[in-house]
Amino acid sequence: MYRHKTDLKYSDITPRNAFLNRRQVIAGAAGLAAAGSIGGAAQAKLMAKKGSPYSTSEDANSFEDVTPYNNFYEFGTGKPDPAKHAHKLTTDPWSVEIGGLVNNPGNYALEDILKEVTLEERIYRFRCVEAWAMVVPWVGFQLSDLIARADPMGSARYVAFETLHRPDEMHGQKSKSFPWPYVEGLRMDEAMHPLTILATGIYDEELPKQNGAPLRLVVPWKYGFKSIKSIVKITLTEKEPPATWNLIQPGEYGFYSNVNPEVDHPRWSQASHRPIGGGLFAKRVPTLKFNGYGEEVASLYAGMDLHKLY
Ligand code: MTE
Repeated sequence: MYRHKTDLKYSDITPRNAFLNRRQVIAGAAGLAAAGSIGGAAQAKLMAKKGSPYSTSEDANSFEDVTPYNNFYEFGTGKPDPAKHAHKLTTDPWSVEIGGLVNNPGNYALEDILKEVTLEERIYRFRCVEAWAMVVPWVGFQLSDLIARADPMGSARYVAFETLHRPDEMHGQKSKSFPWPYVEGLRMDEAMHPLTILATGIYDEELPKQNGAPLRLVVPWKYGFKSIKSIVKITLTEKEPPATWNLIQPGEYGFYSNVNPEVDHPRWSQASHRPIGGGLFAKRVPTLKFNGYGEEVASLYAGMDLHKLY
């Protein structure tokens, strides 16, 4: 189980030679600060000024569209519950344990991770499995950046993610009806794809707690439940890792969960959705395969029967 460490130094948790190698790499890169990287989550505001070629040109939803209604069952099953209760979660200090099939495992303080990656603003279409969607300006960095630094072994085929388990602050975790902690997984090529990010902010601000502070996954071509919140553990594995909704309802939620209008959920059509922000009576619009990111990601699934591997 996850143990929260408050006074970790990067050098305490990384094998010494790996630590030194990394420091040398950084020195050789003429200093990450000069290269436009970031010193901590508090600077997310500044970084958000840097756009990304991976962004959509669509208009973003408002902050008010995105932050009062959330799915974050650790804080209750109602959509307004996370905004009401997530303030109880302590997000600083925060560390992420990276392990499994990597040569450079460790329990890394989030602030140290943020010193070594490049944060940027990415405006992504975001779709939950229920029939709604929004366009969100995330601040984050490519998951591939972090995984590459952990130095994956050749045998690593999947990446498993785990949310914090702390029932004292997340009262939903006291309920026995859910298999806590929330877990998710990606195939290695999905995890290494440049569209896949770990977000630390939205709208030039640090991520609100109800949206998954301080670190959540965003995979824009998949249904929202793959975007696991408040991550504390990332493990590279050989076998397909468990995913919470697939564990609970395997007939309804598959491991891949790519947005796909051709594959209906057993209880509703996935062919269209309602854009959030247009009011209750907003017209439904057709849903695009891979949420409109097909050009970038369809090749990952070449030859797969997406009706079976949904
Ligand atoms: N992550 C955790 N840890 N717990 C959750 O309940 N809900 C998922 C996903 N990540 C969830 C989670 C679901 S079902 C969705 S649709 C998205 O978060 C919602 O993200 P949002 O609240 O930022 O819109």
